[in-house]
Amino acid sequence: MTPIAADTDRRVWSLSTPNTTYAVHVTSDGRLVQLYWGARMSVDEVVLLAQQRTTAGGSSFHLPGDVEEQLPVEGGLRWGVPSLQVTFPGGVRSAELEFAGDSIEADGDGHRLELVFTDSHFPLRVVLHYRVREDSDVVERWVTLKHVGDENEEPFAVGRADAGSWLIPERADYRYSAVSGAWAAENQLGRERVPLGEFTLCNRRGNTGHHANPWVMLDDGTATEEHGEVWGVALAWSGTWRITAQRRFEGRLAVTAGFGHDGVTWQLRPGEELTTPPLLGVYTEGGFGAASRAWHRHARAHVLPRPEEVRPVLYNSWEAVWFDVDEESQLEIARKAADLGVELFVMDDGWFGKRVNDHAGLGDWWPNPDRFPNGLGPLADGVRKLGMAFGLWVEPEMVNPDSDLYRTHPDWTIHFPHRRRDELRQQLVLNFGRDDVRTWAHGWLDRLVADHGIDFLKWDMNRSISQGGWPERAGDQDRLWIEHTRGVYEVIDRLRAAHPGLRIESCSGGGGRVDYGILARTDEVWTSDNTDAFHRQSIQHGYSQLYPAAAMAAWVTDSPNPITGRAVPLEYRFHVAMAGVLGIGGNLHEWTDRELEQARELIGVYKTIREVVQHGDQYRLGSEPGQGLSAVEYVHGDNVAVLVYHPHAGVHPAPGHLRLAGLDPDARYEVASDGMAEAGGCTATGRVLMAVGLPVPRRVAGGDWSSAVVRLRRIR
Ligand code: DGJ
Repeated sequence: MTPIAADTDRRVWSLSTPNTTYAVHVTSDGRLVQLYWGARMSVDEVVLLAQQRTTAGGSSFHLPGDVEEQLPVEGGLRWGVPSLQVTFPGGVRSAELEFAGDSIEADGDGHRLELVFTDSHFPLRVVLHYRVREDSDVVERWVTLKHVGDENEEPFAVGRADAGSWLIPERADYRYSAVSGAWAAENQLGRERVPLGEFTLCNRRGNTGHHANPWVMLDDGTATEEHGEVWGVALAWSGTWRITAQRRFEGRLAVTAGFGHDGVTWQLRPGEELTTPPLLGVYTEGGFGAASRAWHRHARAHVLPRPEEVRPVLYNSWEAVWFDVDEESQLEIARKAADLGVELFVMDDGWFGKRVNDHAGLGDWWPNPDRFPNGLGPLADGVRKLGMAFGLWVEPEMVNPDSDLYRTHPDWTIHFPHRRRDELRQQLVLNFGRDDVRTWAHGWLDRLVADHGIDFLKWDMNRSISQGGWPERAGDQDRLWIEHTRGVYEVIDRLRAAHPGLRIESCSGGGGRVDYGILARTDEVWTSDNTDAFHRQSIQHGYSQLYPAAAMAAWVTDSPNPITGRAVPLEYRFHVAMAGVLGIGGNLHEWTDRELEQARELIGVYKTIREVVQHGDQYRLGSEPGQGLSAVEYVHGDNVAVLVYHPHAGVHPAPGHLRLAGLDPDARYEVASDGMAEAGGCTATGRVLMAVGLPVPRRVAGGDWSSAVVRLRRIR
């Protein structure tokens, strides 16, 4: 079956992924509706669905039918949540879109369908784009709006331009899964019944956000980790966003999502085109675990820039010395890190301008002459001589008012005339929508990377955008909310193109900027400033719902933890951090010889499993992380790695076996264990390991803070 099939007479288009079908149809009254989204179906069946469509009978009060539309506009007999709101000249609203044609194309990145609509009176062209790939169950959608009038025409005001709406098929009930959180408490997973009415997840801060993340998953309330139908929608965008679920009393549910927050309006001038970021949808019959694996596979195959690489073990001294960095002390700690087997040494905040605390210096991106009298060269060379790559922290979007940059270019910050410029963390945000700001940022970053052969940048963003004005764009200042994010993307893209060896970590006060937009141009994400291993379990659990382990940076830091004060044994801290891209962030000068030796060994263990962790399929096993015995299993070819955690002895004894998943039932697996010693050396079939499980020894199932790494290998 070709991935996209069309029956143009009946105006039906069917898009297939390996396991699913997504079908749309232009009805006799000209509306583009979703016909089907579920398990794979033939084109004939889809066409039949279109022919058998009944126009819902009953009262006209049951209108609107716009929940089923792909891009319901504000207008006509629609009173639901619009995906598209346009105000035309003279204050005319109520867009009237008419179908104008389709096109299907294959390019290097899958198969694309375009459905074109034009307004019945005003020169507005709307194109709905769809893309499917042969190796991913993700359906990708986005929309372009174009003002096709001549230059004398007035602009249109676009109030909402979502990338599309998705109908969740009719079920007896609906539940949503989403994450909420805060700084140092990101990605707390919640599942709730979808309320009747309109329910919005959003972010108005200008980064992706700590408080919510732009995705939602829906099920009928019965799906589990291993079973059941799940529909997921995720937006690939790192600025403000909105996802609205609309559940109607009559029994239907639709989810519309896009960039921008409520109240912002963009002017579309003659000839101008507005392209939304991509919105991705996934359907699976295999429960939340299968949904996550579909997202992860998609991220590895089609989002991350260098998914084939194995991420190195990193050291970062932020939690060890905070702003207190200089050439000699960084080299001193680098020597200790190298001795442990660290491969990438990253110097964090405090190396530039007058940045000795968070009061000054952001914007002045040259080495602090007191701390680095000979520039960064000696440190970079010293780190490389120790056999490690060299990385640096930057926060390009920010400026401290106490900086040469601000004194020279106060107009470069995001602000409104006649309004205060409120500071947060003593800083303001530079307007990356401006060409001169982008040019400046690219210029110094390019030189910094080139002059020191920098291998890695940690790109941070530590305050929300407020007072989002752009005085030079009077009349269209809201454009800032799009153009700032686009500017960040552009600078990163140019930098990567000019420096193919450069790798980038996305950070925003911890995990405030993770989404499929930033992941397309960065290699990993700093998951949270909270490095308490116990808290990290739930943070990483929430993160893993959408994003792969290969992009989840996790450090082992000191105990008691500097943020939470909790003491956790070193091995447990390591085992939790091994579930992603392992890093070390503790003050190595204060670690005992025994701890340093243990760290060296554990880094060695991580290197034996990291390819499986970073490139494998992930299965979440056992109880909720932190609530009892839980594990994360990764399967990659013949190799399997399982990280087992039991943080606290409960009143109830822990289970005696841990059932694995995703194995070949008929193959034999050899169990090589580092922590579950009783299991080491034995072999079992995949069937037994999945039906009965690995025996969990008392050492792991009893007491507090017990954990283990188990490695298995398929032998035949
Ligand atoms: C916030 C980050 O999350 C930290 O890891 C650190 O880089 C600080 N910023 C530095 O200011």
